[in-house]
Parts: sequence; C-alpha cells; structure tokens
Amino acid sequence: MAKSIVPLTERPKDSSLPTKKPAHAQPDPDRVIPHLAVRALVSLGAVDACLDAVDGPNAHGALWAMRYMHDRKTVDGLIRKLGAIRSPDLRRDILATLIRLYYREADYKGVWWGIRPENIGPYYDAVEWDQSPRIGAVITSAVLDADPETASYLRAELARHRVSLNGLPTRPEVVTVSEKEAPVVVPKADPKNPNQIGNMPYEGAAKRALARRGNTAKGKALFKAQSCGACHTDADGQTLKGPHMVDIGKRYSAAELVESILKPSVKIAQGFETYLFEMTNGKTFTGFVVSESARAVLVRDASGLQRELKLSQIESRTIQKQSLMPEGIVNNLTPEELADLIAYLQSLTGSDESPKKSDARMMDLSSNAAGAA
Ligand code: HEC
Repeated sequence: MAKSIVPLTERPKDSSLPTKKPAHAQPDPDRVIPHLAVRALVSLGAVDACLDAVDGPNAHGALWAMRYMHDRKTVDGLIRKLGAIRSPDLRRDILATLIRLYYREADYKGVWWGIRPENIGPYYDAVEWDQSPRIGAVITSAVLDADPETASYLRAELARHRVSLNGLPTRPEVVTVSEKEAPVVVPKADPKNPNQIGNMPYEGAAKRALARRGNTAKGKALFKAQSCGACHTDADGQTLKGPHMVDIGKRYSAAELVESILKPSVKIAQGFETYLFEMTNGKTFTGFVVSESARAVLVRDASGLQRELKLSQIESRTIQKQSLMPEGIVNNLTPEELADLIAYLQSLTGSDESPKKSDARMMDLSSNAAGAA
C-alpha cells in the first residue's frame, strides 16, 4: 500500500507553483495531495517504501517524507544509498535529508516548550537523538570530501539547521582534503619467490587461495597496502569511487571474488566500464565514470586519481574492453594473503555497529545474559 502512495507525493506535471509572496498566503491546490501523501507515508512509518523510491522518479517525495522519519532504519538506509548513488544532485538531496534528521523534536514534557521556543523551525525544541552522532560523522566526511560548491551547499544546510559538528573546520578556506591521493603503483612480484601470485598460473593461485580460510584483520591491512582503497569504498557513507565493496560478499562467491581481482577484465561491473575521452583540445583521458552532472564528468584513472572533465570540452567518449582495474594488483601477494583479502571483503557489512558474521554468536550470548540479569 505505502508503495502506491509514494508517486502521489509528486505535483502534477503541468502544475505551476504559487508566484506571489508570501507563498503560503495564496492557495496552492496542487500541493494538497502531495502533502497528504507525505503525511500518510509518515504515519504509516513507510521507511522501506521511501528508501526503495530514492533512486527512482519519486526521489523528491520519498526524501521529503523521510525528513519526518526519525528512525534508525531511515538513517541506515540513506547512508547505504550514499554508498551506491552517483548522481551528485541526488547525493546532495540525501545529505540534506540527513542534516534535517540530525535533530528531532524534544518530547513534550507536560508543560509548553520552554520560555524561548525556536521560532525559525523546523523544530520548536531541537534535541539530539541516538542517530545524531552517526549522521554527524557522515556529514563531516562528506563536507571534507566534497567539491567546493557542494561543500558550501552542505555548510549552508548545516547552518540553516544550526547543526555544528566537531571536526569540521568552521572557515571554508581551511578545509583540508581528508585523504591524500597518491597514484596507485602496481606492485611487482619478486622473481625469486615462487609463492607469489605473479609467478604462478591463475588456476594454481585461485586453488590455493580458495583452499584457505583467510584472516579478516590481515585482509583489512592488505586492502590498504595494495591500494584497493584508491578505487573502492569499504564502508557505507564514504565518498563513492569505483564499485562499493560493502555487500560484495553477498553478491559474489569467493571464487568469483578471486576472478574479479586476478582477472579484472573477464567480467566488468556494470556502470564501471572504462571509457576513452577525447577532448576538444586533442587530449585524451582513460577512466571510469565516478559521477556525472549536467556540467561535468568525474573520472578516475588507472592510477586511482580523479579528474573533472567539463562536458562542453568532451569531443567523444568510447567504451573500452579492458577493465580499468589494473591487472596484477596483487602480484606480490601469496595466494594465502589473497585469501585474507577475500575474507575481509566477505566480512564487510557497511556499518561499524552491526555485528560481523563471526561476532554474531557472541552478541547473542551477551544479549541473553543481559536479558537474564
Ligand atoms: C585503479 C583503480 C582500481 C584499483 C586500485 C582496484 N580496483 Fe577493483 N575495480 C576497479 C574498477 C574500475 C572495477 C570495475 C570494473 C571491473 O569489474 O573490472 C573494479 C572491480 C572490482 C571488483 C568487482 C566488483 C563488482 O561489483 O563486480 C572487485 C571484487 C574488486 N574490484 C576488488 C579490488 C581489490 C580487492 C583491489 C585491491 C587489491 C582492487 N579492486 C583495486 C578499479 C580498481
């Protein structure tokens, strides 16, 4: 049912917005249905229906309704969407929704709100709630990673909602990039070490890697050391680069993971194909598309570096057969180390708070203990 309400949150296509000022002083009949639809979704607690609509044609209405859904599920879902959505405009709208959710209305304490209730809204008596710290962390890293225009938009939204975040420098000119970008160098195998993947046939390496259960902690360190993080995100809420690795363990078997790492060009992840861009000035760039707006394309090249290409300066783009993920990126590892890397990928759940598979039993026991106490 909630699903069928979501499309009603949109104004009719041919409707015009009120033109006089102040806007609320004139009738706007086309707003009635969208408004009621949003209220209905909120009363139904239709978080899932709204989340499902975020990447579709009713994104606007879905996000509008979610601004009133102070629920951990809403926050989880929106953060997860940020891990997958590449449209810069939609990402901004999601971040703005999260900023709006940072505070909630304080509980009514039996007396009318304090002597100085807020008169600028949206809350009379804004208080933090248990998801505020997570929202704060995601917004902080989004502002630090954003291009200057998006960063100033997000800062304006934060100021409008009077959210001040620790760790976010207040003056825009002192913004530092949170992550130094250094070009990826494909490591070479040591010719004297027959145990390294670069010195053995694919089948042998794959077989040995699959025969072993890897160590997640070692894998995490390898993800960093082998520069996987230059092109991939491994937690929800990070600024998207190449394919997001959270949930990859659910989508792929260990054997498929081995293949995508050792032979990246055999199957190319949808949406992350390699393109050759020819520019009007004769220069060419090869990379995959990180995001695309009405003005520019963000591309990341094989050394993991990102560059913005203005649409007006792109002469042509042609899709290439080769993956942009460098072949040989784990040539210096043993198959057992590859198993560690794979164990790490399989352990990812996106949020630091949700229990990893291996901890799930312990969590159960401790919650039982708490229940018995
Ligand atoms: C220079 C950028 C770059 C680096 C470095 C890189 N990758 Fe990739 N990776 C890509 C791109 C682009 C794709 C999508 C194209 C494809 O499927 O080959 C991809 C695809 C993948 C996939 C398949 C994803 C899917 O959804 O199908 C996996 C798994 C993967 N990479 C793991 C890794 C691991 C592990 C490392 C580090 C050892 C790594 N990558 C390093 C760029 C990179």
